[in-house]
Amino acid sequence: MNDLLKKPRKVYVSRTIEFNAAHRLFNPLLTENENCKIYGKCANKHGHGHNYLLEITLAGIVEQKTGFLFDLKELKAILEEEIVNRFDHRHLNHDVPELQDCVPTTEVLAVLIWDILEERLTSITNREISLHEVKLYETGKNAVRYLGE
Ligand code: NI
Repeated sequence: MNDLLKKPRKVYVSRTIEFNAAHRLFNPLLTENENCKIYGKCANKHGHGHNYLLEITLAGIVEQKTGFLFDLKELKAILEEEIVNRFDHRHLNHDVPELQDCVPTTEVLAVLIWDILEERLTSITNREISLHEVKLYETGKNAVRYLGE
């Protein structure tokens, strides 16, 4: 290795995946009218779908031996297993146990994705790699960023 990695270099590495899912924005603790007022047509009874785009960013020091922060093949496999398998072609209100008692907004989904990935990442690496950001696009125009705060 040359001298580039002699001092610790902190980098941010991102990977993007897509999944399709349905949801309904409806809070059972509120009346039908209140739900309509807050969520509009997103409260319609049978739900609607989105093509979600998820960008995951990891942060940490580049490993001297490999020149990687984290093997992207491995990150791809983790995202397939933990995110795509769990959410793709599902109805978020009905098919995802972790979302049973909440309104599955993009905010809530981003937080759940954070918790799932953080647990998985801490279990597989002893290097200092952290989940830096979850960015979830519900549409091309709307996105939520969560940094674990
Ligand atoms: Ni929606």
